[in-house]
Amino acid sequence: METQIIARAHGWLSRAKKYIEEGEVVAFHTETVYGLGANAFNDDAVLKIFALKGRPADNPLIVHVHRDYEISRLIDGEPPYAAALRAAFLPGPLTMVYPSTGKVSQYVSCGLPTLAIRVPSSPTAQEFLREVDLPIAAPSANLSKHVSPVTARHVYDDFNGKIPLILDGGACMGGIESTVLDCTGEVPQILRGGLVTREMIASVAGDCGVYVRKEGEQPKSPGMAYKHYSPRCKTAYCRSAEEANALYDGEAEQGGRPCILAESGLISALGGREALDLGGTGEEMARRLYALLRSAEKSATLLIGVEPKEQEGVMVGVLNRLRRAFGVDA
Ligand code: TXA
Ligand code: MG
Repeated sequence: METQIIARAHGWLSRAKKYIEEGEVVAFHTETVYGLGANAFNDDAVLKIFALKGRPADNPLIVHVHRDYEISRLIDGEPPYAAALRAAFLPGPLTMVYPSTGKVSQYVSCGLPTLAIRVPSSPTAQEFLREVDLPIAAPSANLSKHVSPVTARHVYDDFNGKIPLILDGGACMGGIESTVLDCTGEVPQILRGGLVTREMIASVAGDCGVYVRKEGEQPKSPGMAYKHYSPRCKTAYCRSAEEANALYDGEAEQGGRPCILAESGLISALGGREALDLGGTGEEMARRLYALLRSAEKSATLLIGVEPKEQEGVMVGVLNRLRRAFGVDA
């Protein structure tokens, strides 16, 4: 199969629609990361996603809909705070988990009684979803465990020859996946951190919990249990520039090509060693992280990550991805 990357052009969405109606899988831009989408009502199409990614069969998918899609077809009621959150943050990088009506394919939620729904704000995603007018089940468009894709080229690198079409909307400006929020309880609870932060949610809903998995417990968001976001080179993780420099010099002495990934404020402490600048703010670090991991794996033999200082707000989500990419907290 030939994989085509197409950017906005006459008829691009009708081609995508045709593939979706035929039960094919189509990749598309969102404001967070690229998605690998299929008709959520079609069992075979949904199973194709799992096969293409090599995704564990117990890791449920998020369903994507356009902003005017009637979600009451898919969900069995919502608490008042959820309606307020939708009004405040959607379309945008917030995925909401509701009790499911069971109308979509059973494979979407992997047997859970809930359904995760996302209304992305990217114009490419909105226009695509409106054209198909179907709920589109879509995980991030990377091979399972690999770094999530933030350009059409990243998707191509993982799925060339395996999918017919990539809808190119440019680079993803959010850069890390959406916040996943459990809306089935009295108080909303964050299952996966992202650009919509706990503080933002609490300011609308009055309160917001953060799910922490207890030892030995099945995670509420199964995807959080798996190794993730890993670059395909050796990695090391440390807490200071001094430690990173020592690891770097050791690798260089052995003839390797080390590289340090650190926030802007630390770059000058690296003494001119090969480095990737993660950025200065949480938003910047979110936007750059995956592209830097994907570029590092192509050239470095050892990538050394240094933990950023800021730990609040958007950084909760960034640190989660960063630590897991480096095999800490995996
Ligand atoms: O930004 C995003 O959310 C991207 C773009 C493509 O929309 N999608 C994405 O999908 O990150 P994925 O499959 O890579 O991650 C989905 C996460 C997983 O951790 C999964 O376990 C969780 O959402 N999830 C999906 N359905 C769930 C449900 N019913 N209950 C709890 N967690 C759920
Ligand atoms: Mg993913």
